[in-house]
Amino acid sequence: MKRQHFLSILILLTFLLIAGCTPEKQPETPGALPQTQSETDTEEHNREEDGTTQAMEFDFESGTVTLNSGYKMPIIGLGTWTLDDEEAENSVYHALKCGMRLIDTARYYGNEVGVGRGLKKAIDEGIVEREEVFITSKIYGGDYDRAGGIINDALKDLGVEYIDLLLIHQPGYDDEGVYKAMEDAVRDGRLRSIGISNYYTKEAVDKVLSFAAITPAVIQNENHIFYQNNELKEYVKQYGIVLESWYPFGGRGHTGDHFGNEIITELAGKYGKTAAQIILRWHMQAGYVVIPGSSNPDHIAENYDVFDFELSPEDMARITALDRQERYENW
Ligand SMILES: NC(=O)c1ccc[n+]([C@@H]2O[C@H](COP(=O)([O-])OP(=O)(O)OC[C@H]3O[C@@H](n4cnc5c(N)ncnc54)[C@H](OP(=O)(O)O)[C@@H]3O)[C@@H](O)[C@H]2O)c1
Repeated sequence: MKRQHFLSILILLTFLLIAGCTPEKQPETPGALPQTQSETDTEEHNREEDGTTQAMEFDFESGTVTLNSGYKMPIIGLGTWTLDDEEAENSVYHALKCGMRLIDTARYYGNEVGVGRGLKKAIDEGIVEREEVFITSKIYGGDYDRAGGIINDALKDLGVEYIDLLLIHQPGYDDEGVYKAMEDAVRDGRLRSIGISNYYTKEAVDKVLSFAAITPAVIQNENHIFYQNNELKEYVKQYGIVLESWYPFGGRGHTGDHFGNEIITELAGKYGKTAAQIILRWHMQAGYVVIPGSSNPDHIAENYDVFDFELSPEDMARITALDRQERYENW
């Protein structure tokens, strides 16, 4: 009996010794984290020693934020909703030409082919390399097998070998199945980071976290000066999740409410910038990645020209105070 006890302890000690000496498994892609929480607890990744969580810092020098996946994401980019293939190709090409490196699309927009063409044109002209561009797309719910197929369709339409960020477009009937298909696509290299879109409450996010082996890197939500996601943004910091704003100008048909707002126009005068630039700068300084939509090359250039000024804390607070929790959409 004693001998058995001794042998068990010996085996345990040998195991601990081997585990302790094994070098930590390194991610295959430089900068990328191991892909499952069984390898490394990604939730713990940003946790400080005192138990608080490090916010995902926005680096205004490089214009990027490092996601909990280990990949860098530009903090401002181009939105392409409502653009057809031709408009998307043109806008993407101009965005890349003026320095933007983040492009947002979705299967639902039906313009991934156009986005891919704009990207290819810029690559062919030597403006960018694929690795420098961060492409986001989104898929709708459905079952596991269907989601796997949709990911392949998105890759084909975009003409790329991997997608930088894929989001569940909105909560659906089998989020778990879709999310697991996305996780598998991270593991086999078709996707780099994954996330969710249109999840507004802690409960909705917690549900995803309960089945996620890979913590979502991004939540993309309707978020603008009149409907701010500040509480959710603070809550998900503990998981290193970054919030991304859609409808930064209220969306087509509502931009007047935003550009004509008294405080926004006053600040535009004060900083010598346009109303659009004040709004975009607020998003970034508040810690939101932002993707203004546009089919106009001049607007795209204007929207990217937001790195040469900084809103003061007082002016940031004045814009934050405009929040009235009013959404334009209900999805
Ligand atoms: N996840 C989701 O469910 C979801 C939902 C909606 C949108 N999104 C994403 O978020 C992106 C942003 O939303 P959005 O495009 O619908 O709305 P938005 O960015 O709030 O506003 C787009 C409108 O602003 C105008 N605009 C852009 N830059 C301007 C400037 N500098 N000066 C004046 N007008 C300007 C555009 O007109 P011009 O074309 O003339 O520039 C367009 O009418 C979308 O494109 C899409 O990628 C995601």
